[in-house]
Amino acid sequence: MLVLGIETSCDETAAAVVEDGRRVRADVVASQILVHAQYGGVVPEVASRQHLATIVPVLRRAVADAGLAFADLDAIAVTCGPGLVGALLVGVETAKSLAFALGKPLIGVNHLAGHLAAVFLTDDAVPKFPHLALLVSGGHTALIRVDEPGRTRLLGSTRDDAAGEAFDKVGKLLGLGYPGGVKIDKLAATGDPGAVELPRALPARDDLDFSFSGLKTAVATRLAQTGVPEAQALADFCASFQAAVVDVLVRKSRRALQREGLDTLIVCGGVAANRGLRNALAAASQADGFALFIPPPKRCTDNAAMIAAEGTALFQRGQRAGLDLAVDPGLPLEVGQPLIRD
Ligand code: KG4
Ligand code: ZN
Repeated sequence: MLVLGIETSCDETAAAVVEDGRRVRADVVASQILVHAQYGGVVPEVASRQHLATIVPVLRRAVADAGLAFADLDAIAVTCGPGLVGALLVGVETAKSLAFALGKPLIGVNHLAGHLAAVFLTDDAVPKFPHLALLVSGGHTALIRVDEPGRTRLLGSTRDDAAGEAFDKVGKLLGLGYPGGVKIDKLAATGDPGAVELPRALPARDDLDFSFSGLKTAVATRLAQTGVPEAQALADFCASFQAAVVDVLVRKSRRALQREGLDTLIVCGGVAANRGLRNALAAASQADGFALFIPPPKRCTDNAAMIAAEGTALFQRGQRAGLDLAVDPGLPLEVGQPLIRD
């Protein structure tokens, strides 16, 4: 089964072809990072216009990379939320037009469910159910119990900033430009994580929620006193900040695994590409004996292969969207049914 995935929820215009929900035949991502970097963050209106300009060439490229013609596809899966409304509309309307013109089934995919599905894009072992998912992206930070595909329960989430947002805001404060996550990750590799003392927000002992705004304020206050560090001191600062975020993510994941009696953790979303987090979780998995699954970095950040993978799973369960498929910028993870009909 060949499913075309389309993803335009934020600042990546992406299309991919996935075979049988596992094998990536083509994976094209046109990033808008350079366009938004000049504004210091994603500008929604600019994102929509960029998607409009890029979506058709990206689609053509994906189908050609897969060695296929559009007529060979079995279904079209598209992100319909959550995300930026104008950005989502470009992908959804394109997918509808394509489905209509080709007479192919259309599937609406939740972007967050897509992130959760990225770990299945492999010929190697895949996680068993039930498992715990740590979703860490630019817009979300959440611990989710996944009982089976499509059946999830939110155990905890951020009360303020998402982990990726904290990386990006601190990156900006440090003068690293947008997006800060990748740059902090790179600098942190040569820094001392113990150099700067920063707070760890662990509100209540048994709680599975996160909070990163206190850490961001602590960074801003400190930088106001000391100025932005340079050279090795900058690397040390990045390593210390990254360690503070990673520490909380790892501790809460361990607590959630224990509390839920689960022995499998999957990690997804852009921040799952972070080397500090990957290393710390690998060490925790060794120490505690839980199975750990993290997709390769390019499948952690936004891509359309994950949308095609989730779309395939929904398609196999008989779910289809009509040509009246709507976008929902605030779509929560648990909602699947109302968007999808026979
Ligand atoms: O999942 P994603 O591509 O888009 C959303 O759905 O939000 O995540 C983007 C976020 C950004 O905040 C970016 O700074 C962060 O993921 N990110 C990273 C790294 N790569 C991307 N954060 C820390 N370390 C990284 N290596
Ligand atoms: Zn995402």
